[in-house]
Amino acid sequence: MSKRILVLPGDGIGPEIVAEAVKVLDRLAGEGLAVELDEGLVGGAAYDAVGSPLPEATVAMAKEADAVLLGAVGGPKWEPLDIALRPEKGLLGLRAELGLFSNLRPAILYPQLADASSLRAEIVAGLDLMIVRELTGGIYFGQPRGVRTLDSGERQGFNTLVYAEHEIERIVRSACEIAMKRGRRLCSVDKANVLECTELWREVATRVVAHEYPEIELSHMYVDNAAMQLVKWPKQFDVMVTTNMFGDILSDAAAMLTGSIGMLPSASLNEQGQGMYEPIHGSAPDIAGKGVANPLATILSVAMMLRYSLDEPAMADRIEAAVNSVLDQELRTPDIMSEGMTEVDCMGMGDAVVAAL
Ligand code: IPM
Ligand code: MG
Repeated sequence: MSKRILVLPGDGIGPEIVAEAVKVLDRLAGEGLAVELDEGLVGGAAYDAVGSPLPEATVAMAKEADAVLLGAVGGPKWEPLDIALRPEKGLLGLRAELGLFSNLRPAILYPQLADASSLRAEIVAGLDLMIVRELTGGIYFGQPRGVRTLDSGERQGFNTLVYAEHEIERIVRSACEIAMKRGRRLCSVDKANVLECTELWREVATRVVAHEYPEIELSHMYVDNAAMQLVKWPKQFDVMVTTNMFGDILSDAAAMLTGSIGMLPSASLNEQGQGMYEPIHGSAPDIAGKGVANPLATILSVAMMLRYSLDEPAMADRIEAAVNSVLDQELRTPDIMSEGMTEVDCMGMGDAVVAAL
């Protein structure tokens, strides 16, 4: 039985980088990987075509698929739109519709790119940490929300931070499963000194680890300190687990430690193991259409897909090895270019990975 993959190129550089990742999938299909690809609309591209950032047809196809490969959404063109019609709603809607509560965001420093970090090499050399971000709850989805007018006539904006125990339990379990396959150290990040909601988070995280994963060494950190520690000595972390919004912020910081946000993939999983895979970087409208984007994060997202949703870990290893090999060959897209290396464009990089495979 073939696995179905829904490909959603989206906006900006999305179509360019996804095209290179599809080349990699096609290559593996030629070697016996049983996959069928469908393509759909999401984000600004979908809004332009059919007036909605998340057409019902896309949701239906995504639900049928074993995995979704997404490029990126958003761009200045759609910024004037109402929040409900913005491209980002397409992404948030897919997360919610598919129940993709567990977002895995690795931050790995490729030794070949150590000079790309803005931090000293000794601080980041060998960095390999995983942020597990809760993705379908918290302040992103909490009700009530909106902007209301007070009796005084002044407007007041409000959002709600909410987590039910089962939401905390499942994301902590998800992080524990990852930690068990790594260094068995988990840091839970909260703001329990101020927010009741995350006081509960801390209590539940403590309980889940103590009862279900006694092998794991659990620590807790307030989010402000976690941001500081990430920049100060990031190698102290193995796996971090945190709320939707804290994870949004900390994962950008962690990504930048590696100096090359264009290298980092992500996976968003639901309880059935169905997943959506996308690069951590955005749609980069400033370079869209120029063919210079780095496709490696998207190609590495395919590796995560093979590992987490398609049960093909050996093929995932091969893609990761191929990416290492093109870096060893000193090929670089402009975002990771340094002196003495050979600059290639988006297609050139994709072709090099296929050749290395
Ligand atoms: C991310 C992005 C999204 C988020 C935006 C585009 C809605 O920043 O995936 O980190 O905030 O979750
Ligand atoms: Mg973000």
